[in-house]
Amino acid sequence: MLITRVRLKNWRNFRTLDLPLREVTYVLGPNASGKSNLLDVFRFLRDLSKPKGGGLQAAVADRDGISKLRCLHARKDNEVLLDIELSEQPDGPVSWRYVLGFKPEGKGAQRIMVSAERVWHQGQLKLDRPNEADQADPVLLTQTHLEQIQANTKFRDLVDFFGATTYLHLVPQLLKFGDKIGGQRLEDDPFGQGFLERLAKTPDRTRAARLGKINAALQHAVPQFKELRFAKDELGHPHLEALYAHHRPNAGWQSEEQFSDGTLRLLGLLWALLEGNALLLLEEPEISLNDAIVKEIPLIIERIQRDRKTRRQVILSTHSEALLSNPGIDGRGVIVLQSSQEGSQARTLDMAEESALEAGFTVAEVVLPKTRPQTVNQLGLW
Ligand SMILES: Nc1ncnc2c1ncn2[C@@H]1O[C@H](COP(=O)(O)OP(=O)(O)OP(=O)(O)O)[C@@H](O)[C@H]1O
Ligand SMILES: [Mg+2]
Repeated sequence: MLITRVRLKNWRNFRTLDLPLREVTYVLGPNASGKSNLLDVFRFLRDLSKPKGGGLQAAVADRDGISKLRCLHARKDNEVLLDIELSEQPDGPVSWRYVLGFKPEGKGAQRIMVSAERVWHQGQLKLDRPNEADQADPVLLTQTHLEQIQANTKFRDLVDFFGATTYLHLVPQLLKFGDKIGGQRLEDDPFGQGFLERLAKTPDRTRAARLGKINAALQHAVPQFKELRFAKDELGHPHLEALYAHHRPNAGWQSEEQFSDGTLRLLGLLWALLEGNALLLLEEPEISLNDAIVKEIPLIIERIQRDRKTRRQVILSTHSEALLSNPGIDGRGVIVLQSSQEGSQARTLDMAEESALEAGFTVAEVVLPKTRPQTVNQLGLW
């Protein structure tokens, strides 16, 4: 399953938005243009859908309340609305549509109330709220049906899909020293502290198969990289070890503490691609990798998923000129964000840009110059 369209109203810095999404979608835009805010739509739906998510009230509270979440540029109509279409396969017909609207109660406890919740499956309306039960007992509108197991039997596949979304903003130091740093870990581990532990818990055969694929992809992208393996030290702590061709002969295997930051981050991303079937949100995969490797990221993603039965849909945010200079990027999967006084606008490529890509130019050449801040002022520093 994959998300093929997203429409938003009053979501963070987007007053309105209507975008198609592809199996791999690249979200481009300068700082503060709303890339992370766009990814947050899918984290929000995950928070509503996952078993321990805490539902609508918690998901809004986790985002510092409705006044932070709702677009500051909202007009009279102050409802926040998400409208999502999904398909069973790329370019397939719409199989599911989910619509959720909500707003604050406007009095008393200031709870967040569902103003609309609708689900269609194969064009048939499966849920339409507010319904009679909601009218009889308006407190029911403090919860969505995504968060209620007994209420969502008719669209459990959709709930499971939303709930299985992964968000990754990997921090190399936490990947390396997660164990030693300890401290608080967010449940979904977006920063990668639990990566090695997860690796350790994966059944041997699955782990070996995944590492084999990562091996092949890395050999292609990282010069001198020879082999990757999983091992445990005397204390039973899990480690990743790599062998590089350029080290002294018999220099032996390096453990993850000696890997370059970028290599480790890349490993984490690649593992995530193989770890599940649902949506994967990647923040700036280029961080701490050198340009020669970054340029290969689109290909590595393709290669690593190549013979999977169900590939993960990937939405990634990026600033990277190198990544976008890969000639293999499908222009239909590119989303451009631009800030304005009225919040951010999001768009797909226009015809002129598409034909420039067909003529052999890269996304970096055609689109990036338009997303660069014209002056430093736009960074809001002065
Ligand atoms: N409710 C809201 N209404 C309007 N603007 C908002 C709202 N919430 C956040 N913003 C604005 O959105 C911007 C941040 O967007 P976001 O973090 O998504 O940017 P980004 O494109 O991911 O940037 P970076 O490249 O730095 O990661 C900030 O300027 C913030 O003020
Ligand atoms: Mg961001």
